[in-house]
Amino acid sequence: MASGETLVPRRTRSSAIELVAIERRFDDGVEALAPLTLRLPAGSFVALLGPSGCGKSTLVRLLTELDRPTRGSIHKPFDLKMACVFQDPCLLPWRTVLDNAALPLELAGVPEAERHAATKDALAQVGLADAASKYPAQLSGGMKMRASLARALVVQPTFLLLDEPFAALDEITRQALDDHLRTLWKAWGFTALFVTHAVDEAAYVADRAVVLSRRPGRVVLDHPLDLPSDRTTALRSDARFAAQTGILRNALAESGGAL
Ligand SMILES: Nc1ncnc2c1ncn2[C@@H]1O[C@H](COP(=O)(O)OP(=O)(O)OP(=O)(O)O)[C@@H](O)[C@H]1O
Ligand SMILES: [Mg+2]
Repeated sequence: MASGETLVPRRTRSSAIELVAIERRFDDGVEALAPLTLRLPAGSFVALLGPSGCGKSTLVRLLTELDRPTRGSIHKPFDLKMACVFQDPCLLPWRTVLDNAALPLELAGVPEAERHAATKDALAQVGLADAASKYPAQLSGGMKMRASLARALVVQPTFLLLDEPFAALDEITRQALDDHLRTLWKAWGFTALFVTHAVDEAAYVADRAVVLSRRPGRVVLDHPLDLPSDRTTALRSDARFAAQTGILRNALAESGGAL
């Protein structure tokens, strides 16, 4: 980031991310993913659903390159900037919110004044402008997750990978964060892959939902969500929303996995 530049909404120009015939078999013989092919066009918001243990987090680890596929290939644009958000916000208790969220920039050697300016911007974007000097122990669960989101945003990602980020939060907080995430995505234009157990959450935040079978995971449904682009609370009780969540529930039931 150039000196003085702040975090501003922008559109990604990257091309698609593709997983082609991915398989992952662990040393103990557990087959986590069957041949699985998935294309994430640049700027798309895809929700990934599937029964517990079907290989969703394995797929996430393959995308982060913390793990490698047994077979198949993953294609990512050379200029991809990836950031991850997990269920555990993983904040360092001895660091303030500002210094936690600034960590990726600190590790990248960004000078202090510049990283503080960029981090304050990111905190403002997730609604934590007034909490910069607080410590994690002083935050609610939702605030911790917002801090974790800010830490992901400071690198100006073109690809945001989220593995059940809001699963441990209460319903109201989760819905507020779903709204916030969707707003951030619309403003920034990053590609998003959002793993969730919750059918309603998948339908609300994403533009497309992919359902995996029971382990070894393979795609059983790849469904463009037929909903207005602007998601509001009222949509949750709309018949169109119920129709979309019904399609996802049926696919999950047929995949052999109860959630
Ligand atoms: N390092 C590993 N070694 C052996 N088996 C593994 C390893 N990592 C994951 N597994 C197995 O692979 C399968 C898929 O695990 P994974 O964590 O990807 O599931 P998941 O879909 O994310 O489940 P959940 O919804 O509960 O988070 C599980 O059976 C798990 O026990
Ligand atoms: Mg998982």
